[in-house]
Amino acid sequence: MRSLGEDCGDLAGIHWVNDAGGCSGVYVMEDGRTLIDAGNMYGLTDELRDFGPLERLERVLLTHAHFDHVGGLAEIFSETSPDIFLHEAAREPLSRLKEPFPSFFEILEKDKKIHFLRDGDVIPCNPSLRALYTPGHTAGDLCFFAEALGGLFSGDAIPYNSRARDSMGLARPDVFSRGCVENWIQSLRKLLRLNIRHLLPGHGEPVFHTGADRIKLGLFSLYSSVCGEQKDQAWIMMGYEMLDAGFLEEARQCAAKAMRLTSDSVELRLLLERMEGEAAK
Ligand SMILES: [Fe+2]
Repeated sequence: MRSLGEDCGDLAGIHWVNDAGGCSGVYVMEDGRTLIDAGNMYGLTDELRDFGPLERLERVLLTHAHFDHVGGLAEIFSETSPDIFLHEAAREPLSRLKEPFPSFFEILEKDKKIHFLRDGDVIPCNPSLRALYTPGHTAGDLCFFAEALGGLFSGDAIPYNSRARDSMGLARPDVFSRGCVENWIQSLRKLLRLNIRHLLPGHGEPVFHTGADRIKLGLFSLYSSVCGEQKDQAWIMMGYEMLDAGFLEEARQCAAKAMRLTSDSVELRLLLERMEGEAAK
């Protein structure tokens, strides 16, 4: 378990059990009282005992229902019974996991251990977290925003445009869980308008200070997947996104990339005109 406060002072008090293979990372807050995601690794409970008795665990916030993020609940519930928070659209994918998980979640729901969050709900932990509904990877994705720290627990909501991550399917929506690239673009658009400095994803290393840049990269990877071979179109669409979000310099960079790929495009010409207008303001 790594104390993120040693890497970045803003994140003092947040710990990270790193991801491995088919298992998401787990973030630990409030000395073991709150978890973000449960991973799917044996031995998580031993790690949590570093903070004291496991019974102090009060809540687990789930970013979505993929097994690599929820499988670890089995080990946790063999010893203690925290409350589980997730978006209602994640309920159906939970019911499609292999047994005994669907029965397990049914029992939890009957025992009133499952709580459904909506966009904007605030979880009263320390620091407080705001649930942000960010469908796209699946229909039930939530991010948790620690506004006071500028930190976003993002689960799989930010596609990571590297070969390794592509091969894990993280840049593609999970259509079986009603993921959808158009919704995903909308979700990242929403995140770009927040003051996110640190990104705490479900897979890969935490990103300190440049979290917003990683979101921009994620958005571009979505446009790339939508546009296929038409990379100039992806850069132009990204340019419009950057302008709309108030990032004029990034919009210029996108337009420059598009210009290298296409000499004559109405969309590019309109983008350049809009950029000129913005610069003149
Ligand atoms: Fe996922």
